[in-house]
Amino acid sequence: MPEKTTKPNIPQHIAIIMDGNGRWAKQNGKARVFGHKNGVKSVRSVTEGAARAGVKFLTLYAFSTENWNRPKAEVTALMQLLVNTISKETKTLNKNNIRLKAIGDLQSLPGNCYSELQAAMDKTAGNKGMTLVLALSYSSRWEIVDATKKLLNDVKQGRINSEEVNETLFNSYLCTHDIPDPDLLIRTSGEYRISNFLLWQLAYSELYFTPKLWPDFREEDLLEAIDDYNKRERRFGKTSEQLSEEQSAHE
Ligand code: IPE
Ligand code: IPE
Ligand code: MG
Repeated sequence: MPEKTTKPNIPQHIAIIMDGNGRWAKQNGKARVFGHKNGVKSVRSVTEGAARAGVKFLTLYAFSTENWNRPKAEVTALMQLLVNTISKETKTLNKNNIRLKAIGDLQSLPGNCYSELQAAMDKTAGNKGMTLVLALSYSSRWEIVDATKKLLNDVKQGRINSEEVNETLFNSYLCTHDIPDPDLLIRTSGEYRISNFLLWQLAYSELYFTPKLWPDFREEDLLEAIDDYNKRERRFGKTSEQLSEEQSAHE
C-alpha cells in the first residue's frame, strides 16, 4: 500500500510582529532607517511566499500606537517609507491577486499616507487570492476601547440591547470583524512579548518566536514556521483523546 502522505496544514491566517530592524541596522553600522528599508524586502518576500503557500490572511504589525513615541525623525522616515512602498507595490499586489486592508487608528496617519493607503486598498479591493492586512497606528487596547465606545453608543441609540452582548457581537465591533483569528503568530528578533498586538484575536493562536531579525527573515523562514505549526496539536481546551475521536468520525 502506498504510504499515506498528509498535506501540510496551511494556516488560514498568519500574523507577524516584524521586529529587529533597528538592531539589524546597528549590526551593519548603519542608522535605524536603513533597517526599516531592508525590512521592506522581507515584507515582499514573506507576502509573496504566504500567497504562494495558500495563506488566506497575512497580518503585518507595521507601526504601533506606542511607536508614535519614537524620535520624530524616525517616525517621519517610517511614514515616508510607508507611502513610497504602498504606491510602488500596488501593481505587484494586483499581479499576485492580493487585496490590501489596514487596521488601526488610520485617521492619525499623515494625510498623504492615508490617501496612498486608501488608493491602494481601492485598487486591490477586487482581488480574491490573499488579504494582506497592515496594522498601522494599531494597538489592541486602543481597538478594544474603540469597539467598546461604538458598542455603548449603539446601546444608547437603542440599536442593540445590552443583554445581546456576547463574544460574537463584541467581535463585530473590532477592526478585524471580517477576518478570522490568526492561527499562527510569528515574532522575530528574539523578543518574547505581544507588544499590544491583537490581544483578543490571539486567544488560541499558536505562537512562534525566532531570533532572526526582521530584515533577515524571508519566505523560507516563513515556511519553517509553518512546518513548526504543523507539529502542534491545537486542543482549544479539549483533550487529545477527544480530538482523535472527532478526527476519526470525520474520516
Ligand atoms: C520593527 O523594528 C519595526 C517597527 C517597530 C516599526 P524595530 O524598529 O522595533 O527594531 P528594534 O527592535 O529596535 O531592533
Ligand atoms: C512592536 O515592535 C511593534 C511593531 C513591530 C510594529 P516594538 O519594537 O515597538 O515593540 P517593543 O517596544 O519592543 O515591545
Ligand atoms: Mg523593536
